[in-house]
Amino acid sequence: MQGRRFLVTGGAGYVGSHLVLTLVERGAEVVVIDDLRQGHRAAVPPGVALIEESIADRRRLAEVFAAWRFDAVFHFAALSLVGESMRDPLRYCSENLSTSLAVADAAVKAGCLRFVLSSTAALFGNPKQVPIPEEAELAPTNAYGDSKLMVEKALGWADQVHGLRSACLRYFNAAGADPAGRIGEDHEPESHLIPLAIGAALGTRPPLTVFGTDYPTPDGTCIRDYVHVLDLADAHVRVLDRLDGRSVRYNVGNGTGYSVKQVIEAVERVSGRAVPHGFGPRRAGDPSVLVASSAKLRAETGWAPRYAALDDIVRTAWAWHSAHPRGFADRG
Ligand SMILES: NC(=O)c1ccc[n+]([C@@H]2O[C@H](COP(=O)([O-])OP(=O)(O)OC[C@H]3O[C@@H](n4cnc5c(N)ncnc54)[C@H](O)[C@@H]3O)[C@@H](O)[C@H]2O)c1
Repeated sequence: MQGRRFLVTGGAGYVGSHLVLTLVERGAEVVVIDDLRQGHRAAVPPGVALIEESIADRRRLAEVFAAWRFDAVFHFAALSLVGESMRDPLRYCSENLSTSLAVADAAVKAGCLRFVLSSTAALFGNPKQVPIPEEAELAPTNAYGDSKLMVEKALGWADQVHGLRSACLRYFNAAGADPAGRIGEDHEPESHLIPLAIGAALGTRPPLTVFGTDYPTPDGTCIRDYVHVLDLADAHVRVLDRLDGRSVRYNVGNGTGYSVKQVIEAVERVSGRAVPHGFGPRRAGDPSVLVASSAKLRAETGWAPRYAALDDIVRTAWAWHSAHPRGFADRG
């Protein structure tokens, strides 16, 4: 990574900031553009330029690409709440598509022809096969997932016409934190299970609601694939070398699923505290099981999760949240 320079959109956010840390630790130079609507200045390591602007501003993007020569762009900045996307689908489709295309267009015009997109398992909707293979049918069941599919399709055209090589990484559930405790997850509103369960255990968030106990799973609760943020970051670095002459699409997940109840038990084991929780009805549109097959990613890049066990993932999240119960506001 020494001598290479990257632009990271949304690099002050949860997953993006863990990639930034990884790139910096491997000797790369990084520039972050983030309007901090969800991100945190303190999540960006010292020495990394933070441009506090929206990626919707095409003129500003052109200036950024003119000021630095980037080897690649990592594009994280997006609206990403599934529930919100079903209340305001037009905003999700229009904003996620237009901002992504603004970044891709600026990259093409500047001759920066490597692009890594944060895509999502939401592309697969209700999968017919689990673990979900990378070639599975794409049939999103919400506007958020569809907005990412639109971006993936547009990137396909940009490859064909402009030679913009892209890696679309379909993340499953990002989880955990930097094990050294420097950064971690801090969303408001928070929609992810592990921080909500930990917040309930700490008393900083209300008791957890488990949505649905009658799914066709061994304990009746939904099963998801939790992948550690640093394993996600590692996948980003590895795919760069796959972008010579072609674009790629990969699933990034552990390949093992854990139920909501198993996550609650893991948080209780790791923290030594009870997770206050109650039960509610199913949420509309929640598939019962979402687990990735990342067979292609593993075979083609040598990627393998270093944090495959749920307790290891939860331990890093617990270390961050218990030391910073108010998130970055507690980092002094
Ligand atoms: N967290 C997950 O489990 C998960 C799963 C699948 C896909 N993803 C995707 O990964 C990406 C990152 O997710 P995250 O959880 O880190 O989200 P996040 O909200 O923590 O990070 C996104 C960052 O982008 C910034 N941002 C948003 N819109 C912007 C704009 N128009 N201009 C400039 N900055 C802007 C926000 O301030 C934030 O810092 C998203 O694209 C998301 O769709 C995340």
